[in-house]
Amino acid sequence: MQFINEVVDILDLLYQHGWDERNGGNLSYILTSEEVKSLENQNQIIRTFTYDFDMSELIGKYFVITGTGTYFKNMKKAPEVNLGIVKVVDKNNLGLVWGYKDGGRPTSETPTHLRCHIERLKKDQKHRLVIHCHTTNIICMTHICPLESDYFTEKLWKMQTESIVVFPEGVGVLPWMLCGGNEIGIETAKLMKEYRSVIWAQHGLFCTGTSLDEVFGLIETIEKAAEIYMKICDKKILQSISNDNLKEITKAFNIKYRNGIID
Ligand code: 13P
Ligand code: ZN
Repeated sequence: MQFINEVVDILDLLYQHGWDERNGGNLSYILTSEEVKSLENQNQIIRTFTYDFDMSELIGKYFVITGTGTYFKNMKKAPEVNLGIVKVVDKNNLGLVWGYKDGGRPTSETPTHLRCHIERLKKDQKHRLVIHCHTTNIICMTHICPLESDYFTEKLWKMQTESIVVFPEGVGVLPWMLCGGNEIGIETAKLMKEYRSVIWAQHGLFCTGTSLDEVFGLIETIEKAAEIYMKICDKKILQSISNDNLKEITKAFNIKYRNGIID
């Protein structure tokens, strides 16, 4: 299955970058109708996974989801063990149609992933993908910066010229919360009404979008800006990107950016 190869390539790249140590991070990807047709047993449910929240809006959709506890470094070696393809069979149940060969189950962050899919699909019918990763420099920033979406957005925009082009809506930021549950999923999805990217303090990043390339590019760009921030934040700054410079970029590229931060 070509899409499994593409997912595995991205998971491996995330691992190579050091953003998914051990089992840190996870992915969920909506299959197209052509990809669903290519499945051998698309309606044969091997096992079901029950969740205590309403996923009615996703009924009938198929997702590739990383398995909980699976190591990113092993994805390439054994995709059918480390990944699963599930169908949303009713408002509380996912049905396994392929994968999790050793008895595994979807990531512990599935409630957050599915809630984010619901919100992002309302914004963009082409939305397909949620990736969560443990990007080092973003985590560093959450130890030393105020945990405010506008503060992070302004800092990240001003670190490099391309930031505002790639994430003109900015980034959302959540304070530290217990991961793996419904509450953090609800709060993340609330921010996903406005942002494609949400930072979890002292934990990592959630990025969403329409394709593997686009979301990987979003993660790379945000993390690169954070890396620059961490390299210069304790140095004497002689010059930087001004509010006017940012406005000039958005005018030149005809970009609608988040209001109220640099105006
Ligand atoms: P899973 O192994 O359940 O995907 O959890 C990893 C993680 O990053 C939790 O936030
Ligand atoms: Zn995590």
